[in-house]
Amino acid sequence: MKVAIGSDHAGFGLKEEIKELLKNLQADIVDCGTNGTESVDYPDFGEKVSGLVSAGSIERGILICGTGVGMSMVANKFPNVRAALCNELFCARMSRMHNDANILVMGGRIIGKDLAAEIVRVWMTTSFDGARHLMRLDKIKKIEEKLTKHGC
Ligand code: RB5
Repeated sequence: MKVAIGSDHAGFGLKEEIKELLKNLQADIVDCGTNGTESVDYPDFGEKVSGLVSAGSIERGILICGTGVGMSMVANKFPNVRAALCNELFCARMSRMHNDANILVMGGRIIGKDLAAEIVRVWMTTSFDGARHLMRLDKIKKIEEKLTKHGC
Protein backbone atom coordinates (compact mmCIF):
# COMPACT_ATOMS: atom_id res chain seq x y z
CA MET A 1 0.00 0.00 0.00
CA LYS A 2 1.22 3.51 -0.85
CA VAL A 3 1.50 5.82 2.18
CA ALA A 4 2.42 9.52 2.09
CA ILE A 5 3.97 10.81 5.30
CA GLY A 6 4.65 14.36 6.40
CA SER A 7 5.42 16.41 9.49
CA ASP A 8 6.58 19.78 10.70
CA HIS A 9 9.66 20.23 12.91
CA ALA A 10 7.73 19.11 16.02
CA GLY A 11 6.85 15.81 14.37
CA PHE A 12 10.07 15.22 12.47
CA GLY A 13 11.65 12.80 14.95
CA LEU A 14 8.53 10.65 15.16
CA LYS A 15 8.13 10.72 11.36
CA GLU A 16 11.56 9.18 10.95
CA GLU A 17 10.77 6.43 13.48
CA ILE A 18 7.42 5.69 11.81
CA LYS A 19 9.08 5.35 8.39
CA GLU A 20 11.05 2.39 9.73
CA LEU A 21 7.89 0.71 10.96
CA LEU A 22 6.09 1.34 7.67
CA LYS A 23 8.90 -0.41 5.81
CA ASN A 24 8.34 -3.47 8.00
CA LEU A 25 4.63 -3.32 7.08
CA GLN A 26 5.68 -3.46 3.41
CA ALA A 27 4.32 0.04 2.75
CA ASP A 28 5.47 2.01 -0.25
CA ILE A 29 6.46 5.32 1.43
CA VAL A 30 6.35 8.80 -0.07
CA ASP A 31 8.08 11.20 2.33
CA CYS A 32 6.73 14.74 1.82
CA GLY A 33 9.05 16.29 4.45
CA THR A 34 9.99 18.17 6.49
CA ASN A 35 13.57 16.96 6.51
CA GLY A 36 14.96 18.35 9.74
CA THR A 37 14.23 20.10 13.03
CA GLU A 38 14.38 23.66 11.70
CA SER A 39 11.12 25.50 12.37
CA VAL A 40 8.62 25.20 9.48
CA ASP A 41 4.88 25.73 9.02
CA TYR A 42 2.70 22.61 9.39
CA PRO A 43 0.12 23.68 6.73
CA ASP A 44 2.79 23.37 4.01
CA PHE A 45 3.40 19.70 4.77
CA GLY A 46 -0.21 18.90 5.61
CA GLU A 47 -1.16 20.25 2.20
CA LYS A 48 1.33 18.02 0.36
CA VAL A 49 0.17 14.77 1.96
CA SER A 50 -3.54 15.65 1.92
CA GLY A 51 -3.37 16.73 -1.73
CA LEU A 52 -2.02 13.32 -2.75
CA VAL A 53 -4.68 11.44 -0.79
CA SER A 54 -7.44 13.79 -1.97
CA ALA A 55 -6.46 13.25 -5.62
CA GLY A 56 -6.51 9.48 -5.12
CA SER A 57 -2.92 9.00 -6.24
CA ILE A 58 -2.02 7.69 -2.79
CA GLU A 59 -4.31 5.56 -0.63
CA ARG A 60 -3.26 6.59 2.87
CA GLY A 61 -1.47 9.44 4.61
CA ILE A 62 0.20 9.99 7.98
CA LEU A 63 0.72 13.50 9.38
CA ILE A 64 2.55 14.51 12.54
CA CYS A 65 2.88 17.92 14.17
CA GLY A 66 3.27 18.89 17.84
CA THR A 67 -0.26 18.04 18.94
CA GLY A 68 -1.81 16.77 15.72
CA VAL A 69 -4.45 19.49 15.92
CA GLY A 70 -3.08 21.80 13.23
CA MET A 71 -2.40 18.98 10.79
CA SER A 72 -5.91 17.57 11.20
CA MET A 73 -7.42 21.02 10.58
CA VAL A 74 -5.47 21.26 7.32
CA ALA A 75 -6.15 17.71 6.15
CA ASN A 76 -9.91 17.84 6.68
CA LYS A 77 -10.20 20.84 4.34
CA PHE A 78 -9.46 18.52 1.41
CA PRO A 79 -12.22 16.73 -0.51
CA ASN A 80 -12.21 12.95 -0.04
CA VAL A 81 -9.93 13.20 2.99
CA ARG A 82 -11.08 11.68 6.27
CA ALA A 83 -8.32 12.58 8.70
CA ALA A 84 -8.38 11.19 12.24
CA LEU A 85 -6.35 12.63 15.10
CA CYS A 86 -5.39 9.58 17.15
CA ASN A 87 -3.07 9.84 20.09
CA GLU A 88 -4.35 6.57 21.56
CA LEU A 89 -5.25 3.12 20.29
CA PHE A 90 -9.03 3.06 20.61
CA CYS A 91 -9.52 5.97 18.23
CA ALA A 92 -6.94 4.55 15.84
CA ARG A 93 -8.91 1.29 15.57
CA MET A 94 -12.35 2.93 15.44
CA SER A 95 -11.27 5.54 12.90
CA ARG A 96 -10.66 2.69 10.47
CA MET A 97 -13.65 0.48 11.41
CA HIS A 98 -16.31 3.22 11.53
CA ASN A 99 -14.87 6.18 9.62
CA ASP A 100 -12.64 4.59 6.99
CA ALA A 101 -10.05 7.25 7.89
CA ASN A 102 -7.51 7.69 5.11
CA ILE A 103 -5.15 10.02 6.98
CA LEU A 104 -3.80 9.29 10.46
CA VAL A 105 -2.68 12.32 12.46
CA MET A 106 -0.56 12.15 15.62
CA GLY A 107 1.05 14.58 18.03
CA GLY A 108 4.81 14.20 18.20
CA ARG A 109 4.94 16.20 21.46
CA ILE A 110 2.26 14.03 23.06
CA ILE A 111 3.03 10.39 22.36
CA GLY A 112 6.26 8.41 22.44
CA LYS A 113 7.72 6.20 19.78
CA ASP A 114 6.36 2.87 21.07
CA LEU A 115 2.74 4.02 21.38
CA ALA A 116 2.94 5.74 18.00
CA ALA A 117 4.28 2.56 16.42
CA GLU A 118 1.38 0.52 17.82
CA ILE A 119 -1.14 3.16 16.69
CA VAL A 120 0.28 3.04 13.17
CA ARG A 121 0.33 -0.78 13.11
CA VAL A 122 -3.33 -0.98 14.23
CA TRP A 123 -4.43 1.83 11.89
CA MET A 124 -2.68 0.29 8.89
CA THR A 125 -4.07 -3.21 9.46
CA THR A 126 -7.68 -2.56 10.53
CA SER A 127 -10.41 -2.76 7.85
CA PHE A 128 -13.47 -0.57 7.39
CA ASP A 129 -16.69 -2.21 8.66
CA GLY A 130 -18.85 -0.78 5.84
CA ALA A 131 -22.64 -1.31 6.22
CA ARG A 132 -24.31 1.50 8.22
CA HIS A 133 -20.99 3.34 8.40
CA LEU A 134 -20.82 3.58 4.62
CA MET A 135 -24.17 5.35 4.60
CA ARG A 136 -22.79 7.89 7.10
CA LEU A 137 -19.70 8.50 5.01
CA ASP A 138 -22.01 9.12 2.04
CA LYS A 139 -23.68 11.83 4.13
CA ILE A 140 -20.30 13.46 4.79
CA LYS A 141 -19.61 13.36 1.04
CA LYS A 142 -22.97 15.03 0.36
CA ILE A 143 -22.17 17.82 2.84
CA GLU A 144 -18.81 18.30 1.14
CA GLU A 145 -20.48 18.52 -2.29
CA LYS A 146 -23.12 20.96 -1.01
CA LEU A 147 -20.44 23.25 0.47
CA THR A 148 -18.34 23.11 -2.69
CA LYS A 149 -21.35 24.09 -4.78
CA HIS A 150 -22.98 26.72 -2.62
CA GLY A 151 -20.41 27.76 -0.01
CA CYS A 152 -21.42 27.96 3.68
C1 RB5 B 1 4.61 24.02 16.31
O1 RB5 B 1 5.18 24.71 17.36
C2 RB5 B 1 3.19 23.58 16.68
O2 RB5 B 1 2.37 24.69 16.77
C3 RB5 B 1 2.68 22.59 15.66
O3 RB5 B 1 3.52 21.53 15.58
C4 RB5 B 1 1.31 21.97 15.92
O4 RB5 B 1 1.22 21.41 17.18
C5 RB5 B 1 0.13 22.78 15.58
O5 RB5 B 1 -1.01 22.34 15.70
